[in-house]
Amino acid sequence: MIIRRIWISHLTYHPILAYNQYQDMSEPSLPLQITSFQEYQQVYDRSIADPEAFWAEQAETFHWHKPWDRVLDWNFTDPRVEWFQGGSLNITENCLDRHLTTRGDQTAILFEPNEPGDPEVKLSYTELHTAVCRVSNALRALGIGKGDRVCFYMPMVPELAVSVLACARIGAIHSVVFAGFSAQALADRVNDADCALIICSDYNRRGAKNIAVKDVVDDAIALGCPSVRHVLVHRNTGEAVKWNENLDRWYHEEVDGQPASCAAEVMQAEDVLFILYTSGSTGKPKGVVHTCGGYMVYTAFSFLNVFQYQPGDVYWCTADIGWITGHSYILYGPLLCGATTLMFEGVPTYPDASRFWQVCAKHKVNQFYTAPTAIRALMARGNRFVDGHDLSDLKVIGSVGEPINEEAWEWYHEHVGKGRVPIVDTWWQTETGGMMISGLGGLSPQKATFAGYPLPGVQMALIDKNSGEEVSGNPASGLLCVKFPWPSILRTTWGDHERCRTTYFTTVPGMYFTGDGARRDADGMYRIIGRVDDVINVSGHRLGTAEVENAINEHAQVVESAVVGYPHDIKGQGIYAYVIVADGVPAGDTLREEIVAMVRQEIGPIAKPDKIQFVDELPKTRSGKIMRRILRKVASGDTGALGDTSTLLNPEAVESVIAGVV
Ligand code: PRX
Repeated sequence: MIIRRIWISHLTYHPILAYNQYQDMSEPSLPLQITSFQEYQQVYDRSIADPEAFWAEQAETFHWHKPWDRVLDWNFTDPRVEWFQGGSLNITENCLDRHLTTRGDQTAILFEPNEPGDPEVKLSYTELHTAVCRVSNALRALGIGKGDRVCFYMPMVPELAVSVLACARIGAIHSVVFAGFSAQALADRVNDADCALIICSDYNRRGAKNIAVKDVVDDAIALGCPSVRHVLVHRNTGEAVKWNENLDRWYHEEVDGQPASCAAEVMQAEDVLFILYTSGSTGKPKGVVHTCGGYMVYTAFSFLNVFQYQPGDVYWCTADIGWITGHSYILYGPLLCGATTLMFEGVPTYPDASRFWQVCAKHKVNQFYTAPTAIRALMARGNRFVDGHDLSDLKVIGSVGEPINEEAWEWYHEHVGKGRVPIVDTWWQTETGGMMISGLGGLSPQKATFAGYPLPGVQMALIDKNSGEEVSGNPASGLLCVKFPWPSILRTTWGDHERCRTTYFTTVPGMYFTGDGARRDADGMYRIIGRVDDVINVSGHRLGTAEVENAINEHAQVVESAVVGYPHDIKGQGIYAYVIVADGVPAGDTLREEIVAMVRQEIGPIAKPDKIQFVDELPKTRSGKIMRRILRKVASGDTGALGDTSTLLNPEAVESVIAGVV
């Protein structure tokens, strides 16, 4: 309680200052909001016929310091994509300042704390603007400026949202790391981007847990983060933390007393807005880079259309800001559109499995956006937790992050949507910045397990994996690719453009390859099948199998390992690890626990294997490659159709793997 009071005190609003400085900011207009499926079809056709005209029209609705000279300059060979070249802007002026005269008093961020009894916090657009300005000034006072990287390792508290926006305001590049990653994973990300500052909290409340976030940052620093000049510590629970006089600064001490206005850094459209690390099929996670102009235009446009947001609605996305969904659809998209965006500190099952529905009823939520893994987990707890809550304000409910199975879709539709609320199943990725394939809430036809049609401006293609040719006509299936740039496509992977090229632009020359397989039905609706590379999606969290293997292999007694995904009722996919241990080492539960602990240490709890099978050897091709196809089948219990194993270097390994299945 006391902590919240401290927090509110430094957000005190100074109306005169704010008004005088921003009265010249023109009234906001919004991108086109489509109102019927027929209109969608017309707009889609128009957006494809002349993408530049279409996106310029959307971009014109924002506040620019200088208009662009050229709408789009691109090739998918280097690759190089530049939208709104020569234009300059600041995304936070579009999220905040331009709303002040029209909706200054409207709630921008509605914060629902972990404990149901604790008071909610409502930050109006004016208060949020003031708070962002104060933190911007504090960051500048700490020597942070345009182009510097700032890493976040924080719980879902308003200070996270405020400080991320403050980075954007001064042109610093934010790199938010999900606060469930380990110290090692945090240090890797801090070092990859040479972050000058880490912003963290003391502790993180999640359900009944109280996690010592600052300790993890201390451990990361101890591992070696030479670029870090300061650690800014937000006092969340107020419990004691270790203090490093050289580095650590209290957030409130730096922020309180800072002026309530702060001139926004004028950014080029293609200046970097943020880095967000995500896993791929090889090597360590890569920093996906998004830039200011295109990301702004696309997140606002997609938010407005998919959720059919109307002024006054209360919108809630349950994601964490540590993931792209939180960036695009808790923060930027909604704030750009002047929405009220709910931010939730807790977890779906605390104090019990009705929490989501209680929050929906309490705040009269109109649009609700969550992940299939949460839907399945809540479905498993029983209908009594959802039935009986007043969900009558819901107008659109959304799903994101992984394929939604039919059972979960039907349950969501019947028990949350009460059979009347449209579901939007939104397919997209960290790299796409915004939703790519999705129904528009209430306008588009919907079909369980189908994401639907591409958004305007999005030119999808299915590619035959053998011929490399585009499959035209319907129905069809193939590798899911995109033929033409959309404004929020990733621009590069931080510090390694070649990796961006080889990962996304070489599988199908001339196209962006998503890593997913998909099919189109007779009506052209898309259904995502899942990843076709060595990426697994565990509870909506994206992990590379190689990344988990590397962590397992860190254990001194492990000789080799192979990790695959297998179907899991709640998580979508579980992690199955085949492990070879050194001769004479007793392979049993103690070693299993040590391996799990190793993965927690190297990556974090989200990556810990669900099943570990000790094996003598792994089935390999004659060139020494592990036959993952077979391991995936065995882990899925599908040992009847393993295909031809005679070409293996060691076909006998298959039998022993099957015999030892856990
Ligand atoms: O496999 C797809 C799956 O999640 C991957 C992207 O993960 P990430 O970058 O972490 O972003 C998740 C949030 C946008 C995709 O390659 N995925 C995402 N949404 C869906 C999905 N699979 C099926 N249906 C979806 N709606």
